Amino acid sequence: MRGIMLVLLNRLIITIFISIFSISSFAEEMNTNYLKTKWSFKGVFGTFDRASLQRGYQVYQEVCAGCHSVQHLSYRNLSEKGGPEFSVEEAKAIAAQFEVEDGPNSDGEMFMRPGRLSDKFVKPYPNVEASTAANGGAYPPDMSVLAKARAGGADYIYSLLLGYEEAPEGFELDEGVYYNKYMPGNKIKMSAPLMDGIVEYADGTEATTAQMSKDVTAFLVWAAEPHLEAQHRMGFKAIIYLFVLLTLVYMSKQKVWSRFGSKEEPEEETFDRAERVVTKYEGEDPKTFK
Ligand code: HEC
Repeated sequence: MRGIMLVLLNRLIITIFISIFSISSFAEEMNTNYLKTKWSFKGVFGTFDRASLQRGYQVYQEVCAGCHSVQHLSYRNLSEKGGPEFSVEEAKAIAAQFEVEDGPNSDGEMFMRPGRLSDKFVKPYPNVEASTAANGGAYPPDMSVLAKARAGGADYIYSLLLGYEEAPEGFELDEGVYYNKYMPGNKIKMSAPLMDGIVEYADGTEATTAQMSKDVTAFLVWAAEPHLEAQHRMGFKAIIYLFVLLTLVYMSKQKVWSRFGSKEEPEEETFDRAERVVTKYEGEDPKTFK
């Protein structure tokens, strides 16, 4: 009985050890349906590629911002740790490119002024109805949490941006609707937003459609999870903690069980020993204890 328990206990400890390790190294679901690309932010050690996030911001701003808002982001987020990490000066300059409504002033009137770090990203349309009306009845979703809201996350957005194709023979498409391999139902009311060279990257990277798709997707993942890196660091600490704890548990288990001698000891003999102890103590025939 004790032998079995010991084996089970050892197995349990080994299983926990292995699962901690596998969680830390393969902590992402594999989805075979989407286009594959390597994301630097996946896994417990994942961090964002700063240059890619900065390029992603550029793509968002120059291409997507005409239709899609990211209402939760403020310009100051652009210079915060764990994000694109523009310098504070750069973020200020970016904010100042936009006109923001402020007020009322002392005359009770609203006025426009250049954006500041504390301002939210300027929206392309004042409300959902206006954006829907301007896009032929389709609402360009706000991008603050899009990467989290859609099943498939980064892989889905990346694939969607690269998934425009000729519709197959006989596939009906209305005016203003496009065929996309990765959109549920294959119909999307957004024409392909990217084409090679549509932006000129400030850092000289070649702006292929795939490169821009990757950069803007990384940017949207960060927009949806600005604290991803901090969370990964926490996760890593938790794993170290569990690891240390488990080592201590294992060591104390070894110590406790060593009092019972080796685990190969046959059942009967141990029982004998118990009997002998009892006999010696009570000075009686052990059989009477059965
Ligand atoms: C001309 C306006 C316009 C531009 C520019 C634009 N989009 Fe869209 N986008 C839309 C509209 C409209 C929809 C809604 C489509 C639908 O519901 O069929 C949409 C939907 C999407 C979706 C969501 C698909 C889903 O699952 O619902 C993603 C992702 C997306 N756009 C990404 C981008 C990215 C990234 C860019 C910039 C590279 C961009 N869009 C540029 C209008 C635009």
